[in-house]
Amino acid sequence: MAQSKKLIVGNWKMNGSAQSNFHLMAELLRTDLRAEVCDTAVCVPFVYLQQVKTQINEANPGDLARSDALIALGSQDVSAHESGAYTGEISVSMLKEFGVSYVIVGHSERRQFHHESDQLVAIKAQRALAAGLTPIVCVGETKEERESGMTEAVVKRQLAAVIHLNGHCISEIVLAYEPVWAIGTGLTASPEQAQEVHSVLRAQLVAAGGEGAKKIRILYGGSMNPKNAKALLSQEDIDGGLIGGASLKAVDFLSIISAV
Ligand code: PGA
Repeated sequence: MAQSKKLIVGNWKMNGSAQSNFHLMAELLRTDLRAEVCDTAVCVPFVYLQQVKTQINEANPGDLARSDALIALGSQDVSAHESGAYTGEISVSMLKEFGVSYVIVGHSERRQFHHESDQLVAIKAQRALAAGLTPIVCVGETKEERESGMTEAVVKRQLAAVIHLNGHCISEIVLAYEPVWAIGTGLTASPEQAQEVHSVLRAQLVAAGGEGAKKIRILYGGSMNPKNAKALLSQEDIDGGLIGGASLKAVDFLSIISAV
């Protein structure tokens, strides 16, 4: 296991409304989040960052970036550019200024629907690291790639691009293994299948970053839910979860946290 403290991250994707966010956050913040054994974050749509930040701050006065903040704030993407004429984009410095701690980069939905390349994902991770944000770098194979025995080659290629640009500070990232065929489908990698890929990724990180890379948190994502969370999270190299659908229901998200 990389770290004794696991990390559970909710990825809301393009879901929510001011009203539903309020209720979801109120339930999360009302609960004992087991902060001593588990770090928690929510990656919300950009327009809701302010709302969620205010609610967290009210429950937990002070600086969101404090290590004891109840729930850390994350975004789901960031621009690969620093600033300037890039209509519609949000920069790392804007996120940093806002008190955001985590930024998801290279989610398969961005790779698939927005044609993000390994190289672009690596640049986004680099920008995030330079600004003092923690990138949650996603890698994962499609169903066809798994069926043709390419899982290992694909995830290693995706991670290699990130290591290539960020090797010197690779131990600052969070990595998420998200098999594309398991995302939002109800199909989950078995704990053994997930552990197998996590251990390959761990070895690649350690080869690049040495001892420091042993503590990198490698999250599993893809239909993690209250039923399967415990078995997945008890695997040696699974250091947390990146939760989509189940992060939208407080009771499900909280029961995944209690599975830690
Ligand atoms: P899911 O999504 O839990 O709904 O499968 C996970 C993710 O895409 O991060």
